[in-house]
Amino acid sequence: MSKRVFIIVMDSMGVGELPDAALWGDEGSNTLGSIRNHPNFHCPTLKRLGLFNIEGVGGGTEKPEAAFARMGEKSMGKDSTIGHWEIAGLISPRPLPTYPDGFPEDVIEEFERRIGRKVICNKVYSGTDVIRDYGRESVENGSVIVYTSADSVFQIAAHEDVVPVPELYKICETAREMLKGEHGVGRVIARPFIGEHPYQRTANRHDYSLAPQNTTMLDLNQKAGLKTISVGKIYDLFAGKSVSEANRTQSNDNGMEVTLKMADRDFNGLCFVNLVDFDQTYGHRNDIAGYARAMTDFDRDLTKLLPKLRDDDLLLITADHGCDPATPSTDHSREYIPMLLYGKHVRQGVDLGTRSSFADISATVLDYLGVPQEDTAGESFLPDVLSKAGKLPESAPSSDDLIRHAAEMRGRSYTPYSHFNVGAALLSSDGRVFTGCNIENASYTPTVCAERTAFFKAVSEGVKDFAKIAVVGGKEGEVADFCAPCGVCRQVMAEFCDPDFILVLGRPDAYREYRLSEILPSMFTGKDLQ
Ligand code: THU
Repeated sequence: MSKRVFIIVMDSMGVGELPDAALWGDEGSNTLGSIRNHPNFHCPTLKRLGLFNIEGVGGGTEKPEAAFARMGEKSMGKDSTIGHWEIAGLISPRPLPTYPDGFPEDVIEEFERRIGRKVICNKVYSGTDVIRDYGRESVENGSVIVYTSADSVFQIAAHEDVVPVPELYKICETAREMLKGEHGVGRVIARPFIGEHPYQRTANRHDYSLAPQNTTMLDLNQKAGLKTISVGKIYDLFAGKSVSEANRTQSNDNGMEVTLKMADRDFNGLCFVNLVDFDQTYGHRNDIAGYARAMTDFDRDLTKLLPKLRDDDLLLITADHGCDPATPSTDHSREYIPMLLYGKHVRQGVDLGTRSSFADISATVLDYLGVPQEDTAGESFLPDVLSKAGKLPESAPSSDDLIRHAAEMRGRSYTPYSHFNVGAALLSSDGRVFTGCNIENASYTPTVCAERTAFFKAVSEGVKDFAKIAVVGGKEGEVADFCAPCGVCRQVMAEFCDPDFILVLGRPDAYREYRLSEILPSMFTGKDLQ
């Protein structure tokens, strides 16, 4: 059986300040809070799933369809790299280093020695200003321009005619090799330029990310022989480590387009998606209207993704930090992230409250994929969210087996009056099958349906805990495309089953799985009598 997990990171979609936000200058930041009331914001799907049911968010729906949580960040950081690493089970006790006063002398000297060229500038600088102000000197004496920004970056600029691009890339690789541990900057970036003063930057920019400093769930998945598919900048955030397939994207829309294609593909493992526009294009530019519209667009694409999910898929929607567009700061904000977990076997509406670390995502995904957690961080919440059908023992019959069994049972139907034969196969949570057929009567009303025959057999054997039922019906020898359980049988299911009890309906060669809550909403149960 193939299991697919889709994680979609809405880059910077925080849901409110973390308790230590003041230490980061981010008191009061709430990215979702700042965009949700803009007229461009229309996200019925995220609402339906339970985005607003998350602790501290407010305005939830009565029956959220996903399990949901708010998650705190244990790492000392608020950037994408550290956020994604924590999602993948790696906690960073220190933020990535930044250099507001330039890089230390010993680092620069060692670097000059290794590359055989002089370094100039070594300051915080804008990329266009730096080549205007230092370009001439670097062209004249063959030195390279090193500069940084508020981010954890070591940027190297040089003229393509003086330092050919392949050499500049080698120089960057040397820097990347050196800059580990204490000086492990998030990215080393090649910034070649051409032409005459004031010079132009070229498209030959190249980023060299810091590889995760310890094990992540990507490593463990790959070791277990599972796929780790990257969509968007995931590949860069992990420096390609344990990524089995990289799909670059141009925008959020393009990222979702690629994700929709992935949903049509067979694979076993993880498809890890980052939607960067929220952060890069809107959050950092304090563009509330744009951010709100981007969320609406994402919501629209989600409506296309949900129907593509298969019975054994998990969809997890989350974020990596905040970037509140309504605060004066254009920088990231230290916020809680939202977590929505959706799938056929995920119990709907489970409120997981506030979790202490993003790493619980990693632990849960590994748990679902059956991969040991080893030294990655986090606590799995899978046992709290899986339905009975999701927790079946390995040895339990599959839906395929079950519906074949149901079809066979039609041979035992006693139907001298309607000639409509129905078979059922009911699966208990411990993996046993109870079969049934319909049994008619000359006075009609004593007739018992196939489903109830199966249920009553099981209950009379002392079994009351059920995961799934398959039902197949049709006139005499024919098999109908679909035989819906009658209202009375649904009511019996409501008596013994959870709302996420699964019905396998159709024919052995073409069936669909439904939740009981889909075919019997607003159930009347024993609870109503209390
Ligand atoms: N029937 C079932 O066995 N299950 C259902 O849920 C629908 C109806 C049977 C009862 C009766 O013997 C025949 O189909 C025609 O109603």
